[in-house]
Amino acid sequence: MQPLATSVPVAVIGAGAMGSGIAQVAGQAGHQVFLLDQREGAAEAGRQSIANILQRRVDKGKMEQADLDALLDRIKPVNELKELAEAGLVIEAIVEDLDIKRSLLADLEALCGDNTILATNTSSISVTALSAEMQHPERLVGMHFFNPAPLMALVEVIKGLATSDDVAKCVYATAGQWGKKPVTATSTPGFIVNRVARPFYAESLRLLQEQTTDSATLDAIVREAGGFRMGPFELTDLIGHDVNYAVTTSVFNSYYQDTRFLPSLVQKELVEAGRLGRKNGQGFYSYTEGSQKPEP
Ligand code: NAI
Repeated sequence: MQPLATSVPVAVIGAGAMGSGIAQVAGQAGHQVFLLDQREGAAEAGRQSIANILQRRVDKGKMEQADLDALLDRIKPVNELKELAEAGLVIEAIVEDLDIKRSLLADLEALCGDNTILATNTSSISVTALSAEMQHPERLVGMHFFNPAPLMALVEVIKGLATSDDVAKCVYATAGQWGKKPVTATSTPGFIVNRVARPFYAESLRLLQEQTTDSATLDAIVREAGGFRMGPFELTDLIGHDVNYAVTTSVFNSYYQDTRFLPSLVQKELVEAGRLGRKNGQGFYSYTEGSQKPEP
């Protein structure tokens, strides 16, 4: 199966951590990209964050200014859904909520042409469930990037029960064309990576709750002794506690509340306190403006 031609526009909905990164990936592959968010100014801010990150590469001589300018020309922030109508692939990266995603998919079906592929970047929600109310469920596929999307190679391509082979194969080939390493997964809760990762977070949070150690020490141990790039607390600060907690809750409920996946009260409290991690400057660690480094 051929990947999506680069002449075909791509739309990304949700310009948060994931949507902006996915827009960058699609733009770097040569597509015109429409970036939409329901929050006023968020799509422009997403494009600006791509500009800021890549300007640093230009300043270091690792990227040509002309290439950055051309990329930014291809990424168009838009304010209304109807402006996405010509996209051949729409990737949603909005809030991790079944009903809100379903409602967006219904709007997209009403708007987009029959051949438009609809993809979801959901971390944990069943692609089958997301597609259940669609008129053409065969056109929905999971295209699950990892954070930060421009740097992480893996993309899980997830087939729901109704997803057509051609749609899954096209998205698989497209991810490869975009320089990613796609893997296929069935639509089981958490798919592959988020299933494997749940106990990593859960046990770390239990150790914290039992006061066996503190977050900075555990992160350092996992990095230094375990050889991981990041410890669990740094990583969940990067992911966002709202997102990570929603994913754990979704996996927990999908497995009939199996206590192996029990969400942590520590994380629940962070969410309730609005300490969402790097995205708003405070999680397990503090992040000053512009700093990417945790400050205990
Ligand atoms: P985020 O909170 O950074 O961004 C979500 C954006 O979607 C926000 O800007 C919000 O205004 C916008 N939004 C919400 N509802 C919308 C709607 N109906 N229409 C248009 N825009 C809407 O969240 P993040 O981290 O980017 O996650 C987005 C999705 O990607 C979720 O499904 C999440 O599970 C998934 N994901 C997250 C990863 C992570 O590490 N944060 C990794 C892989 C997947």
